[in-house]
Order: sequence, then C-alpha cells, then structure tokens
Amino acid sequence: MSRLITGIAELVTNDPWAGDGSALGLLRDAAIVVDGDRIAWIGPAAQAPPADTRTDLGGRAVLPGFVDTHTHLVFAGDRSAEFAARMAGARYDGGGIAATVAATREASDARLRALLAGRIAELRAQGTTTVEIKSGYGLTVADELRALRLAREVTVETTFLGAHVVPAGAARDDYLALVTGEMLRACAPHARWTDVFCEPTSPHAFDGDEARCVLRAGAAAGLGLRVHGNQLSAGPGVALAVEFGAASVDHCTHLTDADVDALAAGTTVATLLPGVEFATRSPYPDARRLLDAGITVALATDCNPGTSYTSSIPLVIALAVREMRMTPAEALWAATAGGARALRRDDVGVLAPGRRADLTVLDAPSHLHLAYRPGVPIARALRPGR
Ligand code: NIG
Ligand code: FE
Repeated sequence: MSRLITGIAELVTNDPWAGDGSALGLLRDAAIVVDGDRIAWIGPAAQAPPADTRTDLGGRAVLPGFVDTHTHLVFAGDRSAEFAARMAGARYDGGGIAATVAATREASDARLRALLAGRIAELRAQGTTTVEIKSGYGLTVADELRALRLAREVTVETTFLGAHVVPAGAARDDYLALVTGEMLRACAPHARWTDVFCEPTSPHAFDGDEARCVLRAGAAAGLGLRVHGNQLSAGPGVALAVEFGAASVDHCTHLTDADVDALAAGTTVATLLPGVEFATRSPYPDARRLLDAGITVALATDCNPGTSYTSSIPLVIALAVREMRMTPAEALWAATAGGARALRRDDVGVLAPGRRADLTVLDAPSHLHLAYRPGVPIARALRPGR
C-alpha cells in the first residue's frame, strides 16, 4: 500500500543533496510517497507520482521523526519534592536515585508496563519516533533484567545501566563485580548498549577506574558503549568515552580543552541534555564550543524522574536555541540526524528514498516554530518508529 503525502509547505530532509544545500536539506511545496515502513519517493509536489492513497497536510512542515537517544523511562514514583528542594537551592548529586530504585523494585510488571506505555504515548505525541531506554533503577540482576525486557517491548534501543549508582547497603567492589559479571551476562541479550554514570565527585556514581572496568566488560560482551560523563564536574567520562570509541558521551556540561580536543579527534558524539540543566538549575553546556570545533552534537531529553522529567524534544530544542545559542537549524539537526549518529543508525534521522518513513508533522509552516512557540504542542509523530 503506497501513500502520497502532499501539502508539505516545508520538508526537512537532513539530506543536503536533496534540498536547498543547507544541512537541513529543505524542500518547499514538497511531497513524499511512503511504501510500507519506507520512503519510496521525495520531491516537488508538482512532480509527485500516483499512489494508492493520498493525505493532504494543508501547508504544514514535515521533519524526520525526533531521535531521543537518552531516556530512563522504566521507573515508578516521582521526586517532585527533590525538584522543589533544588529550586530552593539544594544541589543534585545522584543521591535521589535510591528513592526511584525503591519505588521501581516495588512496582509490579503490569504497573511498570502501563507507566512505560503512557510515557511512550507522551513522547510520540510530541514528535519522537525513535527512543533509547536505559535500565538503572533496578540494580539487582532480576530487576535490571525486568527493566530491559519491558524496554525491549517498545524499542530496539535498550541500554544496560546497572552501573548507574552503587545501591544502598552494597560494597562498591562487590557491586562492580556483579555489574561486570553475572548482571551483565543476564542483561546483555536484552540490550544493544551499555552505559555508566561516571562522576568521581558523586559518592553514589563511578570514578574513572570503575567506569573503565564497566566499559571494558560491556565491550567484551558485545555491547555498544555510551557514557554519562562530565555532568557535575570535568571528570574522566569524556576522555574514557573517546578512548573506548563509545557511540556517545552524554551531558558534557563541564569540559576541559583536552576533552574538546579529544571529541574533535574521535568518533564519539557529544549528546547534550539541557532538560537536566533546566531542572537542576545548573549552567548549560557550551554547545557553541563543541559545534565550532566541528564535533557532532545530539540533543536528547534524558527523561527521568530526578534530573529531567520531560519527554519533550520540542522543549529541548527551544532550550538549546535560547540558552545554548544553537541556531534553530542546528538544534533540529541535533535532535534528528545527530541522534541517529549517536545511535549509529543510518535508517533514521534523514528522509530519503529507502530510509524509514518515520515522519513528524508540525502544526506550523516551518521548523523555526519549534523554538519560536515554546510549550505549544505543535509537533506529533505521523508514523511511529521503533
Ligand atoms: O542522566 N546522572 C545520572 N543519571 C540520570 C539521573 C537519574 C536520577 O536522578 O534519577 C541523568 O541525569
Ligand atoms: Fe541519564
């Protein structure tokens, strides 16, 4: 069944060859033919071929679906009181994660599945078509495995984050041995990636040597690598991520010159999560420094109940533009094509024949409206992805 989509005032392809020569590859008055889950044709509406059905979008903008590469969607409970305390001056150090671990362990499978389904619906309603989901609120073999199994029901992009924090009552060395041993063996078949919260200044998270053990074990188990790095301090996370050839290092809030040089010379994407700086009242990452050094930047929500309880990529784009001085085009590219690079995917993030037809529609004529109309629900996924 082929479907012709017309009435596209502005089509963002992220394919510079197909469009106006800009990174967003813009086409005006465009049409798309979708066949199954793939794009069959893209071009000027006047040249559109016939198809089985036709949808007229009436002058809206169409974008590649957002690629949200960093979420922690499998959890129960909320930490609104912790958020309120931070707004009154308290600092974030990862200590609140224990409260979510307790609430998540207590929840039934059915309850967690329902919470996850609600969050997936929320993010699709705001234009996200590809989502990565981490474990990390279980921290026992059975609870981490359960989180990854549930996440796999809704996405292929699952990440084992047993190394989120050392759970209350556990000895650091024993827990590290578990995470890199039995827990990894049980979880690896259900995960594409492994991740570690590398933050030497937090008493709960992992230092450079511990993170190195986690990454080495994850790579040996055949998993791709991601790192939570340099969120609270200019620690060793970025350097380690680049050294291990991780697909992405996320947060990048505190960077040294050496970190920027390493990212520029390596293949690791710098994923920025401005929802975290918003909700922890912290300085935003220096996106311009990264972009000006030629580093590939992605944007993601980090949706979690502690540091960023938002599922909204449009909000993240607006923050990136207003607070991090990214242009609207750079921010949109980072949340689509940048995200695809951070997941090492070439089937999403770009609209071209043969790619996945994961489309997001704006109730607006141009992508500029994403940051121009903050808080207004103008984006929705036209077709779900995976
Ligand atoms: O990406 N920094 C570590 N992990 C999450 C927060 C988790 C939490 O506070 O519940 C993050 O910010
Ligand atoms: Fe995170």
